[in-house]
Amino acid sequence: MSNGIRVAALDDIPQGEGLAVDRAITGTTDDIALLRDTDDAVYALDDTCTHEDASLADGWVEDGFVECPLHASRFCLKSGEVQGLPATRNTCPHRVEVRDGEVWLFPGETP
Ligand code: FES
Repeated sequence: MSNGIRVAALDDIPQGEGLAVDRAITGTTDDIALLRDTDDAVYALDDTCTHEDASLADGWVEDGFVECPLHASRFCLKSGEVQGLPATRNTCPHRVEVRDGEVWLFPGETP
């Protein structure tokens, strides 16, 4: 288990919105979206929607889900499970921790 990567300050991510972390930083095949829920919890999912080429970091985050900005499929922030067409494939969650106002990402680790 790694110590994670410090990828942002919590204040860099507005409540209800997301921030994409480039794959050059995460070392993953996709960029990773940091998503800050309306209760201030932060989650991480693969950034590219499983339907077409949209960034989930540009979506709307509310009540445990992110809504894709292009065609409005919703993904569970905890599990990456898709809810609602047109997307039919789940996305991949990553472990993330907030410590002292700093966001640490553990790419590829299951939350
Ligand atoms: S690109 Fe996300 S639902 Fe179509």
